[in-house]
Amino acid sequence: MQASGVSPTQRSLADLEDAELPEALVVRLSDDEETRQGQLQRLERLLDEGVRSVALSDTPTDVALAALRAGVVDVLRPEADVAEYRQALLRAVDRATRLPSTTVDAPVPEAQRRVIVVLAPKGGVGKTTVATNLALGLAMRAPERTVLVDLDAQFGDVLTSLNMFPEYRLHDMTTAALAGDALGVKTFLARHESGLAVIGASDHPAQADSVSGVAASRLVTLLAESFQYVVVDTAAGINDLTLAAADAATDLVLVTTLDVIGIRALRREMEVLDQLSLLHLPRHVVVNRHDPRHGITAADFVANIGAGIDVQVPVSKVALLASNQGIPLLSAAPRDPAAVALTKLVERFATTARTGRQRRRDKKENQ
Ligand SMILES: Nc1ncnc2c1ncn2[C@@H]1O[C@H](COP(=O)(O)OP(=O)(O)OP(=O)(O)O)[C@@H](O)[C@H]1O
Ligand SMILES: [Mg+2]
Repeated sequence: MQASGVSPTQRSLADLEDAELPEALVVRLSDDEETRQGQLQRLERLLDEGVRSVALSDTPTDVALAALRAGVVDVLRPEADVAEYRQALLRAVDRATRLPSTTVDAPVPEAQRRVIVVLAPKGGVGKTTVATNLALGLAMRAPERTVLVDLDAQFGDVLTSLNMFPEYRLHDMTTAALAGDALGVKTFLARHESGLAVIGASDHPAQADSVSGVAASRLVTLLAESFQYVVVDTAAGINDLTLAAADAATDLVLVTTLDVIGIRALRREMEVLDQLSLLHLPRHVVVNRHDPRHGITAADFVANIGAGIDVQVPVSKVALLASNQGIPLLSAAPRDPAAVALTKLVERFATTARTGRQRRRDKKENQ
């Protein structure tokens, strides 16, 4: 995409009113508050003329928020890298050429909203792999209408698995959500190249600690008003943030491995969810890193858990390689058997109803 009409030379914001207006522009916000106010007012007027803007600022969050409220598409640090500039500009041009009434801005009808919380009693079983690929698969079908939230506040690695380094993180979003600032939340969102909106965990422990269950609940509820699919990755076990998300969920995705320890842990987790009246939600059981040579069968699983396996994701060398490179399996190797299985999970949400034939086929394959 070409940012047509963007002048390659630096101009003063004031000059622009008489000149031919570009579709998108980058503005360096002044450090002086009074000058900055003037710039933001000018930007608001240009926005009315259809110009989309990206602001550059090394000033704190409240300045960025003011700029976003004035209508700028993105706020970057001046030292942002070329890829960040490119993404922000493409998004600005994209908004300039798109009709204003589309997607994210129109509230999603309640019946269409899916808040899908991915959880597991144990660490390392594949929650992030499942959540990331599920969100990506949904974003491929519903670009601009899918958001992935990393509620593993302390050790979340969604951003690593997507190779993203956004400026704003979970605690910025929960702060804005607590203040009821839906616009702030929406505009602070990072975008993956697939169109998936992403909220990554902070890499500062103190910021992670500051995220409360109430704040997480507000954030998830707010996102559900604007996005058809909200996919939430969580920390191992059940903590305040996981509970808050589960409370707002329409669906639970339970991830486990098919071994004695994994199955026992899942059974305990399901008992806890039941005590909290959360087990009535539609649930989707994913067995990850499945290896039929390990002896435990789907029938053993049903006998122990009292529920069937919905999706079996095989062990995959490619999955490991892809995650190390920050490329989700679904885009790195869509034909890999693990990607095919994860696509089946996506289809459980992306299609409204499975045909009898699909159901029979899935049942046969999962036996
Ligand atoms: N089906 C699979 N085949 C091979 N490797 C896998 C598979 N699924 C996940 N992995 C790898 O296992 C590791 C742990 O996966 P992941 O990070 O998704 O687990 P997690 O449950 O989110 O862990 P944590 O509890 O630490 O957040 C990663 O290196 C990932 O690439
Ligand atoms: Mg994880």
